[in-house]
Amino acid sequence: MRIILLGPQGAGKGTQASRLSERTGAKHIATGDIVRAEIKSGSDLGKKVREYNDRGDLVPDEIIVEMFKPHLEGTSDWVLDGFPRNEAQARALDEALVELGIELDGVVALEASDEELVERLSGRRQSEATGRTYHIQHDPPPEDPGEDPGPFVQRKDDTEEAIRNRLRIYHEQTEPLKGYYAERGLLSTVDATQAIEAVTRDVLAAVGEK
Ligand code: AP5
Ligand code: ZN
Repeated sequence: MRIILLGPQGAGKGTQASRLSERTGAKHIATGDIVRAEIKSGSDLGKKVREYNDRGDLVPDEIIVEMFKPHLEGTSDWVLDGFPRNEAQARALDEALVELGIELDGVVALEASDEELVERLSGRRQSEATGRTYHIQHDPPPEDPGEDPGPFVQRKDDTEEAIRNRLRIYHEQTEPLKGYYAERGLLSTVDATQAIEAVTRDVLAAVGEK
């Protein structure tokens, strides 16, 4: 399976990609996770991308494409979460796929209203131990430390100001990619306001897997 999950901040790209990866064995490639790992490493690159991340701005295309590309190598099944986010990145992905001699199976757009998204992001918690994402109400962190020891913390960019900025950028730059992929017959849309499991089922159905 080679798919892109498109969707605004909080739609559940990360939540769904990790479930799809567990079920199908496809690699979950999340550029946001790649950016956060680089920041955590304290490298010069991490210092450079930190300011973009914390403000909720996109990391410049040349930088993110270079960070992303190596993750495509060595595996032919993946779920992309958070890449591409604008037309320049979509073109860079097209070129990378041609070089690798592979094709996309589909693009699934997860759809939800901005109000719903803000509620989800404010309740989101991420495990420092496993990187897994939870929600204080909809998907609470496990109480058994053997399953995930945590601690469960809020992301730096889950402030109201950064959330608003990320949603604005989504509508301006990322949403138009639906047209880009629809023209090639690759786009499906899924109602992301359903329960987590129902969304997973619809995504699998959209890409022709069970
Ligand atoms: P990234 O980490 O990708 O953040 P994002 O796009 O803002 O998306 P989120 O992770 O906030 O949302 P999500 O859709 O994954 O939702 P989640 O599953 O967590 O990127 C971070 C930053 O990195 C960017 O701002 C940028 O700086 C940089 N970056 C990354 N990619 C880049 C690129 N290509 N170009 C340039 N810069 C880039 O779910 C949200 C919450 O809702 C969770 O708490 C979850 O438990 C809950 N939830 C999920 N589904 C449901 C449901 N069905 N019902 C109820 N609750 C649910
Ligand atoms: Zn995410």
